[in-house]
Amino acid sequence: MSDPAPVSTDTAAGLLATARALDAADPLRAHLDAFLEAPGVQAYLDGNSLGRPLAVLPERLAAFVREDWGTRLIRSWDEQWMALPERLGDRIAEVTLGAAAGQTIVADSTSVLLYKLIRAGAAAAAAGDPARTRIVIEEGNFPTDRFIAAGVADELGMELAWVRPDPVRGVTVDDLAPELSDRTALVVLSHVDYRSGALADMAAITARVHDAGALMLWDLCHSVGSVPVQLDACGADLAVGCTYKYLNGGPGSPAFAYVRHDLQPQIRQPIQGWWSAADIFAMGPQYAPTPGIRQLLSGTPPVTSMLAMQAMLDLIAEAGIDAVRAKSVSLTDFAVRAADELLAPLGVRLLSPRDSALRGGHITIGHPDFQAVTQRLWGEGVIPDFRFPDGIRLGLSPLSTSHEETLRGVVAVRDTLVDGS
Ligand SMILES: Cc1ncc(COP(=O)(O)O)c(C=O)c1O
Repeated sequence: MSDPAPVSTDTAAGLLATARALDAADPLRAHLDAFLEAPGVQAYLDGNSLGRPLAVLPERLAAFVREDWGTRLIRSWDEQWMALPERLGDRIAEVTLGAAAGQTIVADSTSVLLYKLIRAGAAAAAAGDPARTRIVIEEGNFPTDRFIAAGVADELGMELAWVRPDPVRGVTVDDLAPELSDRTALVVLSHVDYRSGALADMAAITARVHDAGALMLWDLCHSVGSVPVQLDACGADLAVGCTYKYLNGGPGSPAFAYVRHDLQPQIRQPIQGWWSAADIFAMGPQYAPTPGIRQLLSGTPPVTSMLAMQAMLDLIAEAGIDAVRAKSVSLTDFAVRAADELLAPLGVRLLSPRDSALRGGHITIGHPDFQAVTQRLWGEGVIPDFRFPDGIRLGLSPLSTSHEETLRGVVAVRDTLVDGS
């Protein structure tokens, strides 16, 4: 590491005054107290990997065990749990996805739902036109998306076509256009890039994919609950997203899948378990799928893991997703400014778009020493995450993170870098 340029105390003091002023003016400030305290944590900057639990949860979970499970016992399936995958899907759709009811369901992990939808979408496109044998995917997309698309291509005798956008700017219509043709079956992209935080233009990209006669699948893992999404208005065909990041569903909480209403009769998902049978209790000799979004189910849904996200959805509904996005923009803008002033002099690069309109809820900064720095920060209760090869992601969950906490994190990165030099 080269000798660090000194950072004036005026700069740090100025940033602290700004952080406090922004927090004082934050209309969502009261919600910071809705989360469980984490003793010893100075700054939690990883809400884009695992959101924090709400303070109401211990009692909600205890009540669930006591009453819904402990007292109502198996009667709770009829009374509420059978309908939960659709009811919760509709709630996510209403609060965060800009989607009408009957198109979203909660089930399985993101990876399993990606498998179901990539396979169903690619097969539906090829059924309409057998010349459509290409699945288009971005080389920087999250590994599970790429791996599953490759597996489905093998299964269906299709091929992958790769888009290679600028890793900081993220994928644009211009990057995608050369890969679209009358051979394209399905395009799979992330709305917010898991590394740079780049935000794709969902409306323009979906329209361009439809012009080519193909179907569009959006991975919403890093947008849902942080960036407002308009699935219906954009005409998106298929989408998946996880619930343990900005929906604070807890480790391993199940994901959701969206299938546009008029597409539902055309798709056939590959894991045809009894929960998606037309009559689940008929126990008949042959499988016939139920119509509608419930056809995406396979087996018994993880009811206990669907509890925590319900409380978070209520909180997001109360705050309003547009206000959540405004806070998110304020936090990431402030983080970029703090990084410019405190970290750039130490050779740290910004690996996210500068323009907030092109950015989701996290920013990434780069430095060759960041793997070691992250380990030391975790030991001190400052918790961002590290992404290979040299990126630290600052995930700023809007409802649980303040500007001052963000600054504490950036200052700790600076101090740790300087100490190690
Ligand atoms: C963009 C994206 N897709 C998918 C996943 C993960 O899928 P799963 O929930 O199956 O682990 C992640 C996890 O962080 C992700 O960031």
